[in-house]
Order: sequence, then structure tokens, then C-alpha cells
Amino acid sequence: MKTIAFYDAKRYDREYFDKVNNNRFHIRYFESKLNADTVSLAKGADAVCAFVNDDIGAEVLDKLVELGISIVAMRCAGYNNVDIKSAYGRVHVVHVPAYSPYAVAEHAMGLLLALNRKLHRAYNRTREHNFSLDGLMGMDLHGKTIGIIGTGRIGRVFADICKGFGMRVVAYDPFPVANAPFEYVSVDELCRVSDVISLHCPLTKDTYHIINEDSIAKMKDGVYLINTSRGSLIDSQALMNGLKSGKIGGAGLDVYEEESDFFYEDYSNKILRDDRLAALISMPNVILTSHQAFFTQEAMSAIAATTLDNLWAYFKGGPLPNEICYRCSSGTCKKSENSRCF
Ligand code: NAI
Repeated sequence: MKTIAFYDAKRYDREYFDKVNNNRFHIRYFESKLNADTVSLAKGADAVCAFVNDDIGAEVLDKLVELGISIVAMRCAGYNNVDIKSAYGRVHVVHVPAYSPYAVAEHAMGLLLALNRKLHRAYNRTREHNFSLDGLMGMDLHGKTIGIIGTGRIGRVFADICKGFGMRVVAYDPFPVANAPFEYVSVDELCRVSDVISLHCPLTKDTYHIINEDSIAKMKDGVYLINTSRGSLIDSQALMNGLKSGKIGGAGLDVYEEESDFFYEDYSNKILRDDRLAALISMPNVILTSHQAFFTQEAMSAIAATTLDNLWAYFKGGPLPNEICYRCSSGTCKKSENSRCF
């Protein structure tokens, strides 16, 4: 039986992975995140299972090769934390491309609704028997323009949800979908016309800080920003400046640039050693959740099933449709001939 070294394991991971395992694998759960200091825990394992805030850079990959491990199974869609160029030819990388776009898109709308109608503040007020409405006014979303950056699986579900609210949807994506029920515009135009901007693109070198001082300057005064994708899509200092000046009316964030040290951990008894994060959380017009947009029963079931199926297919020598490599998008990946990237 093959052994999986499972990093950054939480109680709910064990619950869902054990449920679908069916004695196919021996899973060694580690609470530590995967990084250069913890990679040696994988000694003796055949595979590694990692998550969004693990560090699978060149150093970790070198060590995995030394340990004889040739596959990393990401139990998530994004893989910006994997050095896929360094992995190529040595370590196969599989991921879960789609588990529930609804989970993430619904969370994005949840953030927008809470932010716009100040539900987080109203909840706290009424608990203290304060029934005043001062400062709680929102706007109708109906008739407003939402700008969606990235119209893949999640972005398109989010567009449908927004249409259901009667919003006008504009979008930017370098690979537009044909016959989309919304209008594609440039990023500049999207910034100019949108009342709300929501990010649904992956983090790549092209999208790093796609929201920055310049793009914020082009936005409407009072724009709401929603980010359920990856923290580094937004330059956090520019966001802070925009919030302080009032240019940005509010931000709903499920991700944060420097989240890896904090998210998924309980810091309630400690001092938060990130002044920017502390300042953002303290703002009444910022709602921050801890990278939880994916976190539904349906998504967790699908993540566990696909991750273990990916590993099963790998060890059985079968095709790996969910493998990724740095050549996949350039058209020079060998998957179409070999069923595997290399
Ligand atoms: P997807 O691969 O289906 O769609 C991504 C879209 O972004 C594609 O249409 C692609 O063409 C577009 N894109 C690529 N480069 C772009 C650019 N420079 N500008 C604008 N668009 C660009 O991915 P999916 O499933 O929709 O997920 C999107 C992102 O959501 C993931 O990359 C991940 O970072 C994030 N995510 C967050 C979760 C959470 O719990 N907060 C859970 C799952 C995904």
C-alpha cells in the first residue's frame, strides 16, 4: 500500500479523506505546512499531498526527489505555490481543477452582500441591543455594474449569480469564452465602469498585483473590491491607501498577500505580527475571511475524491488528466501523446 505524506492536515481533512480512501492508501497526516524545514517528514512516503499555503519551491522539490518521491498531489485548484518549472521531468504535479465553482462564487457574493449591507456591523449592533441604522446604508445591487476579472469556472458562475441580481456584468479575460452572456472589455475599461470588481483569475506573473495604485486610480470612487482568488493579485499597500482615502468603498477578502503565516491557524491568544493585516481587519468596511470560500461539504467531498483518484491513477500507471506542468499552456506539453506531462 502506498503512503501519502499529507501536510497542513486539519480535522476536517482527515474526516473527508478517510471517508473516501477505502483502504487504498496509508495516509500520514502532519499538522505542519510543507516547506524546506518540514519536507523530511515525508521520508518513507511515496507521495505528498499539499495545500494552498504550503511551499513547494525548488528546494522542497530537490529534497522530494532525494527522498524518492515523484508526485505531489495538490488538494486545491491553484498551484502558484509550486515551482512547476523545477518540478518538470522529476516530480509530477496533479491538482483538483474543479470541485465546486459554486462554493467560491457563492462566497464571493456573500462577501459582497455583507459588505454592501453592513451585515457584519448590524449583527454586532443588535447583539448589544443597538437598533440604530446610522452608518448601515447600502446600495441596490440591481442595475449596478460588476467587473469580473477571470471568466473561468468560478468567474462564470459568479457572473450568473450577479445577473440573477439584475447587475450588468462586464469582464476581462485574455481567453474570452465564446458567446458569453456578458461583455468583454479591457482591464482599464473594467476599472472605469465597475461599481464592484471581483477577482477570479489565477495568480501568475501576469496577474501579480493586477490591482495596484494605477488600476485603483482608474476606478470609480467608492468601488467595492472582492477577492476570493489569491492575495497577491492585489497590492495590499495600494489597497490600504485606497481604503484610507475613501477611493475604495470597501473590500471583501477571502485571501491576503501574506496569509500563509496566519490563515487556518488560531491566533486569538496572540499578537498579530502583521500590521497591515491588523489594520485591514480593524476597518469597518473590510470583511476578511480566512481562505474559506472553497469550504462546503460538496467541495470537500469532491476535493478528497479527486485527489485520491489522481494518486491512484498515478500509481496504477494510468493517464493523468489533472496533471499540470509549465508547458501545458504553451502547447508543448506531452500530455496529448503520453497521457502525462512527461
Ligand atoms: P479557471 O482556470 O477555470 O479560470 C481562470 C480564468 O482566469 C481563465 O478563464 C483564464 O483564462 C483567466 N485568466 C488567466 N490569466 C488571466 C489574466 N491575466 N487576467 C484575467 N484572467 C486571466 O479557474 P477557476 O476554477 O475559476 O479558479 C480561479 C481561481 O480561484 C484559482 O486560480 C484560485 O486561485 C482561486 N480559488 C480560490 C479558492 C478559495 O477557496 N478562495 C478556491 C478555488 C479557487
